[in-house]
Amino acid sequence: MSSAGPQRIVVEPAQSVGGELTVPGDKSISHRAAMLASVACGTSRIRGFLSGEDCLATVEACRALGVSIADGGNGELLVEGRGIGGLRAPTRALDLGNSGTGLRLMAGLLAAQPFDVELTGDESLRSRPMVRIADPLAAMGARIDTCDGRAPLRIRGSAGLRGIDYTLPVASAQVKSALLLAGLSAKGTTTLRSPGPTRDHTERMLRSMGVSLDGDVEANIVSLEGPAEPRAFELAVPGDFSSAAFFIVAACLAAHDGMTIRNVGVNPTRTGLLTILRTMGARIELANLTTVGAEPVADLHVRQSELQGIEVPEVLVPLAIDEFPVLFVAAAGAAGQTLVRGAEELRHKECDRLAVMAEALNTLGARARELPDGLLIDGGGLTGGSASSHGDHRVAMALAVASVLAEDSIEVLDTAQVATSFPGFADVAAQAGFSIAGHE
Ligand code: S3P
Repeated sequence: MSSAGPQRIVVEPAQSVGGELTVPGDKSISHRAAMLASVACGTSRIRGFLSGEDCLATVEACRALGVSIADGGNGELLVEGRGIGGLRAPTRALDLGNSGTGLRLMAGLLAAQPFDVELTGDESLRSRPMVRIADPLAAMGARIDTCDGRAPLRIRGSAGLRGIDYTLPVASAQVKSALLLAGLSAKGTTTLRSPGPTRDHTERMLRSMGVSLDGDVEANIVSLEGPAEPRAFELAVPGDFSSAAFFIVAACLAAHDGMTIRNVGVNPTRTGLLTILRTMGARIELANLTTVGAEPVADLHVRQSELQGIEVPEVLVPLAIDEFPVLFVAAAGAAGQTLVRGAEELRHKECDRLAVMAEALNTLGARARELPDGLLIDGGGLTGGSASSHGDHRVAMALAVASVLAEDSIEVLDTAQVATSFPGFADVAAQAGFSIAGHE
């Protein structure tokens, strides 16, 4: 089922992009759906599941834990939930591939299980910080060892967890979600206080599965009374806003006749990029806004706009956290300077996205200055050339989008990981008007 992409891609300067597109299912929602359906009571049906490598690794991990998951094709999964205490000890380490969400949420789900389990991933994932989940899970009573603060994680069979009242040091949906999943099996209340808003898919999904949550949304506090057992659900996964983001930016820069992207999840904890781009002058409209399951979904109409550089408000950073690689490209195409601060978390993603994007943009002819917690980018277009994505799927796709600003072709190296989140990216890009070729 693996869908590994080409090792490098070459994109010719695109004069104009446009048309009508759809993007694959939401990655964050797909991970959560597979995990929560696995511990639900009853059989869940999921449609629109993202068949990217990250989410497929989560499905394989759930199967290794004894869950029967039938793949009906076209993103349809039937998951026979085993109940919150019904997972079985796997016979091997669980490999979550490239995915921080997969590994961290799985650690939360497994922290209360009575068996030992090891969680690991690829080189990039094994370099990312895990103390942020290991410490609070240990405070709940989990026995969890890291490898110098990183994966592999070894979780030893637990005699039971207790709820905690915990203030997250960083605004992270992965940490919040890992602790909520652990809280499902814990005795008592798990209360999580975040320094800022983060995506709330876990909370929405849990509620739709009959688990009640309290808290104060304005104050970024959520709490859950454990133990609690989610019931099975039917779910249609919306298109991934983070995948749509590449085409939203491309359209802002070069869709002279406009572009429509249909059926995109527009949960407000994900759409910080829209606020930022509109502040820069983008013309983006939402149409056919509706609610699918627990999530708002809409069609996006985007028209080419004269973007102006801005100082991005720091409060928007967690709401656009995965969109910065492509936002930096938008900044390179805007008039004047764009300043991003308060984004130190970008150094802990699939690569150090501040360092790698600064290096790539400068290589391609932009002027980007790396700051400890952000970038300062001078707008004005790009020449072209060859730049590495350092194996980061979102950097690779952002650099492909940069071709709308370039005078010459852009070669992007180390692109195989695009398949982790956006299988079929090159096809959708070609449909949008990019001239894009993949090479082994
Ligand atoms: C995600 C949360 C974010 C995001 C990641 C997906 C999630 O990470 O960057 O791609 O699904 O919860 P953090 O919570 O670490 O910021």
